[in-house]
Amino acid sequence: MNAHSQITSEKLALFHLQLEKNKSLPGPLMPTLHDAQHIFGYIPLSIQKIISNELGESIAKINGVVTFYGNFSVTPRGKRTIGVCLGTACYVRGSKNIMDTMEDDLKIKSGETTKDGEITLAATRCIGACGLAPVFSVGDHIYGNSSVSKAKQVLKEIREAAELKVKTDEAQ
Ligand code: FES
Repeated sequence: MNAHSQITSEKLALFHLQLEKNKSLPGPLMPTLHDAQHIFGYIPLSIQKIISNELGESIAKINGVVTFYGNFSVTPRGKRTIGVCLGTACYVRGSKNIMDTMEDDLKIKSGETTKDGEITLAATRCIGACGLAPVFSVGDHIYGNSSVSKAKQVLKEIREAAELKVKTDEAQ
């Protein structure tokens, strides 16, 4: 487990604060899951149990929601998440080839994180940008009308940016 995925007491305190705020909302579960994903980077069973106790929802329901939506993850994610849309519009325009390229290049399968903790690769459902199909995303940035060569180019840029950062950090 890399350092940024650890569940620290500071993160837990922040999460409990958000949880208390969310309790006053009409539907507190989704905002709480978004907060948990944002604060911890993933939503392990231990956090799901806290949510279950505090909101009175069953673990089965919470786990079902967490595993259904591509935005949530039960295992630690890398610093960046690459999402490849495998929704129908993207799939028929070749997003599976993009996913295969990403998997080959990163040497991980969809849902996994690279050993250095840098990148998580995730298949997503439709993200509402079908007019730009096929699409993939890096963090919040969406790449539309994409292709295998675009995917390779973006991976190359991510690597170069990471190497530049390492060199800058070493120089300091
Ligand atoms: S199917 Fe990919 S954005 Fe809709």
